[in-house]
This record gives sequence, structure tokens and C-alpha cells, in this order.
Amino acid sequence: MPDLSRHRLVGNVRMPRLVYGTAWKKAATAQWVEAALRQGFDGIDTAGQPRHYDEAGVGAGIAASARPRDTLYLQTKFTPYAGQDPARLPYDAAAPLAEQIAASFANSQRNLRSGYLDALLLHSPLRETAAQRNAWAAFETLADAGKVGLLGISNCYEPAQLRQLWREARIKPSIVQNRFYAQTGYDREIRAFCRANGLVYQSFWTLSANPQLLNSATVLALAAAYERTPAQILFRWLIQNDVVPLTGTTSLTHLRQSLDVLAFELEAQDCTAIAGLLA
Ligand SMILES: NC(=O)c1ccc[n+]([C@@H]2O[C@H](COP(=O)([O-])OP(=O)(O)OC[C@H]3O[C@@H](n4cnc5c(N)ncnc54)[C@H](OP(=O)(O)O)[C@@H]3O)[C@@H](O)[C@H]2O)c1
Repeated sequence: MPDLSRHRLVGNVRMPRLVYGTAWKKAATAQWVEAALRQGFDGIDTAGQPRHYDEAGVGAGIAASARPRDTLYLQTKFTPYAGQDPARLPYDAAAPLAEQIAASFANSQRNLRSGYLDALLLHSPLRETAAQRNAWAAFETLADAGKVGLLGISNCYEPAQLRQLWREARIKPSIVQNRFYAQTGYDREIRAFCRANGLVYQSFWTLSANPQLLNSATVLALAAAYERTPAQILFRWLIQNDVVPLTGTTSLTHLRQSLDVLAFELEAQDCTAIAGLLA
């Protein structure tokens, strides 16, 4: 039985309530992935996007942690050409989209040293409807083959786009991974759609895009009352509101503080006070 204070069940997949993100760590990637797993993180987010992620370094860090594969949640992304460095592509840009996706995924399997990955996200929606449908069909083929557990989409800020994907997909998306910030109204409609349909909303830019929340009198007072940091209060509020935050910290103190958010609970009136800041 999974410990539901640390994980949630999404279909048959155990997704940690907090996931370690691996962007921008370059040569230090393996070291930080190992540190995160040794400190107690169970989930890793990466991408087949060498411009921002050293996915082979992620695999090396996982191996160095000596954590059994079945205790881990591994999530990667297929990044369309527009988001790639053309000099460092994990696929042949001239190949059809379905082949690009298959090649990128096979490369991720090699990098992460795992034939099965828990989740695959489309890094951003494709502008052309036909391309978007082809991409999703290629994702479904990987799921049909048992190579991946959950499918999802990232940087999807138009509720209509998410609804269309949901309507058309044979295998429905299980994850939306988005920037969590004021400019999109904190994705209120998208988060409501996710909650109503059993998708998981994963947040990034959670701390860096929200200094006004972290420095608000409400959050500062709660931080003092719970003897936690403002970042811990915000992460905890998100977890209690069905969001899975990503953190890519490169500080041992912040790694430990992030994990500690699984060890306390905000009271209902305090959750309401924080929700008021996002209204
Ligand atoms: N799908 C996408 O397009 C996309 C885009 C961006 C990111 N991501 C994913 O999301 C992950 C997280 O990225 P992010 O943009 O949210 O930023 P982040 O890498 O988690 O860090 C943002 C800032 O917050 C600080 N920080 C982290 N934890 C803290 C804590 N507990 N207390 C105080 N400060 C803390 C970090 O400094 P310290 O290092 O000093 O802690 C850093 O300055 C990435 O690694 C990646 O996996 C996905």
C-alpha cells in the first residue's frame, strides 16, 4: 500500500506529492539527483531536451543513489523541434513526428537506464492540429506497448486546448505541467478541469514567479505560526490543493525543507487565507 501522505495513485502509477526537477544543472546533474534521492525524494522530472537537461546525468545520479527502480517515479518529456538546440537533438528532425517521438523516448530509456518510464509529457502543445493529433497517437503507441505509464502535456495554458486533447485522446492525459503564476490567474480553470477529470496538475516556477505571495503578510504570518519558511507554506498549500510542485533546488537545506512539507498540515482556515491571495 502506498503511503498517501507521500504519494498519490494516478491510475496504477504512484506519483510522489513532490517531484525533483533536473533542469539547468549541467555537469552537476548526477550529483544533485543522487542527493535528492538520498534525502528522500522519490520522483524525478527530466526531458529529452539537451539544451536544458542532462538526461544522461539524471540516469547516472539515479544509479549512484542505489535506489531500487520500483521505489522511484521517473518522468520525461518529448520536446518538439522549436524547443530544441538544433545542434543537440535527441532525434532526426527530418524524420516524421511519430519517429521523432519514438527515437526521443528510446534515448530517454537509455539515459535513464529504464525500459519503463512512469510518465511522458509533451513539452508544449503543437500549433498544427494534425501534428498535435499525430504526436498524441505516437504517445499512445508507447503506452500501448507498456513502455510508459502516464501521458501528459506541459505549457498548456488554453483551457480549450486541454479540453480538445481530452475529448479526442483515446488514452487521456493524466498530467498537466505548467508555470504557476499570476499572469495566467494561476491556471484556475485548468486546475478545476484537472480536479474534475482526475488529472494531476504539476507546478513549476512556483517560488521564482511568486515573490509577492512569499512576501505577503499572510504567508509570513503563517510561516511564523507553523515555524516553517514561506516556501514551505506555499508548497504545502499546493499539495493540499491537489497540486504536485516541482522543485529543482541545488541547496541541501532547501532539499530537506522541501521534503519536510510532507510532515505537516495547514489548517482549513489557513488554506482559505492563502487561497484568498490567489483570487
Ligand atoms: N515544463 C517546463 O517547460 C518546465 C519549465 C521550467 C522548469 N520545469 C521543471 O521544474 C523544475 C523546477 O524549476 P523551477 O523553475 O520551478 O525552479 P527551481 O529550479 O525549483 O528553483 C527556483 C528558485 O527557487 C529556489 N528554491 C528552491 N527551493 C527552495 C526552498 N525550499 N526555499 C527557498 N528557495 C528555494 C532555488 O534556489 P536554490 O537552488 O538555492 O534552492 C531557485 O533560485 C525544473 O528543474 C524542471 O524539472 C519545467
